[in-house]
Amino acid sequence: MAEPNFKNRTLYHGDNLKFLRGMNSETVALIATDPPFNKNRDFHATPDSLAAGAKFQDRWSWERDIHQDWVDQITDDYPRLMEAIESARFAHSDGMGAFMCFMAVRLLEMHRVLKPTGSIYLHFDSTASHYVKAVMDAIFGWRNFRNEIVWLYKTGGVSKRWFGRKHDTLLFYSKSSKYVFNPQKEKSYLSHKYGFSNIEIHQDKQGYFTMVTMRDVWDIPALRGNQPEATGFPTQKPLTLYERIIKASSNNDDMVLDPFCGCATTPVAAERLGRQWVGIDIWDKAHEVVVDRLKNEVGLFGEVHYDTELPTRTDDAQPAAPFLRVKQRHEPPGPKMSRAEMYAHLLEQHGARCQGCYRDFDDPRYLQLDHNVPRSDGGLNHISNRVLLCGPCNRLKSNIYTLSGLRRENKKLGYMSKDLL
Ligand SMILES: C[S@@+](CC[C@H](N)C(=O)[O-])C[C@H]1O[C@@H](n2cnc3c(N)ncnc32)[C@H](O)[C@@H]1O
Repeated sequence: MAEPNFKNRTLYHGDNLKFLRGMNSETVALIATDPPFNKNRDFHATPDSLAAGAKFQDRWSWERDIHQDWVDQITDDYPRLMEAIESARFAHSDGMGAFMCFMAVRLLEMHRVLKPTGSIYLHFDSTASHYVKAVMDAIFGWRNFRNEIVWLYKTGGVSKRWFGRKHDTLLFYSKSSKYVFNPQKEKSYLSHKYGFSNIEIHQDKQGYFTMVTMRDVWDIPALRGNQPEATGFPTQKPLTLYERIIKASSNNDDMVLDPFCGCATTPVAAERLGRQWVGIDIWDKAHEVVVDRLKNEVGLFGEVHYDTELPTRTDDAQPAAPFLRVKQRHEPPGPKMSRAEMYAHLLEQHGARCQGCYRDFDDPRYLQLDHNVPRSDGGLNHISNRVLLCGPCNRLKSNIYTLSGLRRENKKLGYMSKDLL
């Protein structure tokens, strides 16, 4: 397993994708993060607060926010993941698809940097959590889903048109079936003190209680502006919530990462619990707030490493993504063609003809770029392993057949173009 190529108490400033891509594989024990939720609005901090001036945009568009190389990477290497993204795009909106694609490329990296015994908690609300779960199943594997935690709070408005929306969702996945988990206890109140001979009963101001193993509904008050930990940052979360996650899913001195760390709730919680931490945020004032909070809330002075430079991988760029790892392959050297260039090249070579059933199309949009030897069998992304197929052939081929296998199957099923028979 590689050594971390970053220091404890580092705060990176910038887009988390590039920092995540620079981090060595399998170096982080726990990721606890609260990304934007696709709320289709902009968030602004309270004026005159510690976080004054902070704002972030939470609106997404495929056209504006999605880079072609993300789409290419996912389409080529993780076709099932692309289907999860597209289902969000078609079921909800273009914006939701774009947000899922933005998250997916980052979650692939988060999966890579987690240790085999590591876990991830993703914080969303009901706007996007179900689409994120499909994306997480495609990346982490549905078998590694552990909990959908309901964070229940009571503050905020209510509507007369539906039930009050008073919870957020935290999706908890582990990287494998062998992961760190420290069961926690919580108070369970009893209606009276008598008749429980086999359990220990305690009393506090609210009444009699016993301690039971913690369940997946967490009743924790949302942060109020007048609490000492409140910085004025618009989406700041309570420390209690993140401390609970860190206690359950990491051990002393473990490395905790928050790639969307905002005003540093995760780093502060990690520091208080004796864990190491790394935070990333695109907001330029995050550093001052982190230093202030660590000083005020943990008594830590002057030890935060602030960095805008990418960490350099020292682990030979190992992919370390067992669930989705495609067979080891070496792409030929030379400039890499984009998917669009490969498409144009094949069209010029063969015309608008499907290479699976030899049907000709008037409109080339009926043809899709696919691999000859499937990626899962070690097929290259290179042009030498690419074909244009019509939709039905592409679906039939899936990652089951090579091109010659697909043609044989088409012949058997009577789908080959009649012109060639
Ligand atoms: C919901 S807030 C996190 C709040 C945090 N849990 C707290 O308690 O302060 C989301 C954060 O993600 C940051 N962010 C959005 N896109 C980012 C990106 N591409 N890279 C790094 N940070 C990003 C925003 O600046 C914002 O601070």
